[in-house]
Amino acid sequence: MAVKNVLKMGDPNLQIKSEWVTDFAGEELQSNIGDMIDTMRHYRGVGLAAPQIGIAKRIIVLEVANNPRYPQADAIALSVLINPQISDFSEQTETAWEGCLSLPGLRGKVSRARSVAYQAVNENGERKQAIVQGFLARIIQHEIDHLDGILYPQRLDDLKQFGFEDSLPDFQL
Ligand code: NI
Repeated sequence: MAVKNVLKMGDPNLQIKSEWVTDFAGEELQSNIGDMIDTMRHYRGVGLAAPQIGIAKRIIVLEVANNPRYPQADAIALSVLINPQISDFSEQTETAWEGCLSLPGLRGKVSRARSVAYQAVNENGERKQAIVQGFLARIIQHEIDHLDGILYPQRLDDLKQFGFEDSLPDFQL
């Protein structure tokens, strides 16, 4: 497996709708997942979507473990979600600072559903479903957006709450 280059905002590959995964048996899927995990960990992301490394497939990985980019966040075990789908969004929303490895150094305040119900298939081809909330719900919503070609600046309520993390007066980790 290998650390891959993360595509940056503006790259057309980040603006397309990714394909559903249909081949769960081949080596390619496991190889893609391995590269995604290595890349996420190397760049200290809490999540990564396949299109960010140029793979137009509906795969996301996430993990929170002592992350200096999100020091207050509780740990979240490594999770691989293939073909993830959100079936229910809570009406209640929460606004928080988001970052993205495709926009290094930038942060923006984004409103998301506080909790979501999702279904996905894991790396062993097993179906899973869960209702999650808070930071994990935010990560899943952010990463699934990548699969639909959406980056978080498209979700901003207020462009004044978007900028470089060392320059935003209100930004705090
Ligand atoms: Ni992102």
